Amino acid sequence: MEEKKIIFSGIQPTGVFTLGNYLGAVRNWGKLQEDYRSIFCVVDLHALTVRQVPKDLRHQTYQAYALLLACGIDPEKALVFVQSHVAGHAELSWILNNYTYFGELSRMTQFKDKSSKHEDNINAGLFDYPVLMAADILLYQTDLVPIGADQKQHLELARDIANRFNNAYSPTFVVPDGYFSKSGARVKSLQEPTKKMSKSDTNEKSYILLLDPPNVIRKKIRSAVTDSDAKVAYDPENKAGVSNLMEIYQAITGDSFEEIEGKFEGQGYGVFKDAVADVIIGELEPIQKRYEELMNDKKGLEAIMKEHAEMANRMAIRTLRKVKKKIGLVQV
Ligand code: TYM
Repeated sequence: MEEKKIIFSGIQPTGVFTLGNYLGAVRNWGKLQEDYRSIFCVVDLHALTVRQVPKDLRHQTYQAYALLLACGIDPEKALVFVQSHVAGHAELSWILNNYTYFGELSRMTQFKDKSSKHEDNINAGLFDYPVLMAADILLYQTDLVPIGADQKQHLELARDIANRFNNAYSPTFVVPDGYFSKSGARVKSLQEPTKKMSKSDTNEKSYILLLDPPNVIRKKIRSAVTDSDAKVAYDPENKAGVSNLMEIYQAITGDSFEEIEGKFEGQGYGVFKDAVADVIIGELEPIQKRYEELMNDKKGLEAIMKEHAEMANRMAIRTLRKVKKKIGLVQV
């Protein structure tokens, strides 16, 4: 029997996930767990690169973990754990730092973006963030990394680091490929549809959060920026706002853009926006219900976290031993 390929992906516990996180990444993870050996991680160490309030970070870590399960990740089928519970991530990250160049990290658009937003705290962790991400991926000999389009540059760097290490010694790491969904790979802001939808946006109306109640979702969609020609047509260049809503509608219903255009022909944006809100509300309702149940049983969550961290740790140690041997660290 052929061994199943390994997929690995991570999400930061920096708040409730957005519809972008869900459609671009998390929703696919639930589907992939059927066919791949799946490993999903709440990357709390990555979240430290921006100043966090400790008690909020703690809550958000439980929240992110519960949301992953509520979105369909099944701990019987996939490994789901918290990054800081497996020491190997930080350890491999330090080693890989020595195989990563200043110039490469300086070119990362997320670094440039975040350092302009946090000018008072451009710390070494923020700069080094992609190396920790490479360590996450390479530690598990990952074949495929399901991510949204915004993480593509980081994945490229992980591939470069893996190749560099393999060439310097001998094949050690699997060189991972990205896995991008056909729809929802880049959900845009509802207020500035040329930018990605992000939970760190200061304008709350720009994003939908997975735990937003139905009336809030409807309000945010109704106030989404569109244009003045009142025609539901897919044209990302000239009609970015409407096209973004169409992409969301497509990602949830599976309808093609032509079908959506046909369905809403001559109906204006009001009717279309209400229909978009309806499909989002319908999609999120069962997730919200399941989330409440899971959060009411923190001890239950902790038990799964602990068991899964131990399993992940066993996998991580195997790679680390190999790496240490190749580079000449003494192991006793
Ligand atoms: P994070 O926490 O910002 O986002 C988690 C996932 O959601 C995707 N995503 C989007 N997809 C479509 N449209 C959007 N508007 C949108 N916003 C976010 C992201 O692409 C991501 O897949 N560095 C990563 C976390 C990470 C990681 C890893 C991922 C750490 N280690 C190893 C994969 C493998 C991040 O900040 O994701």
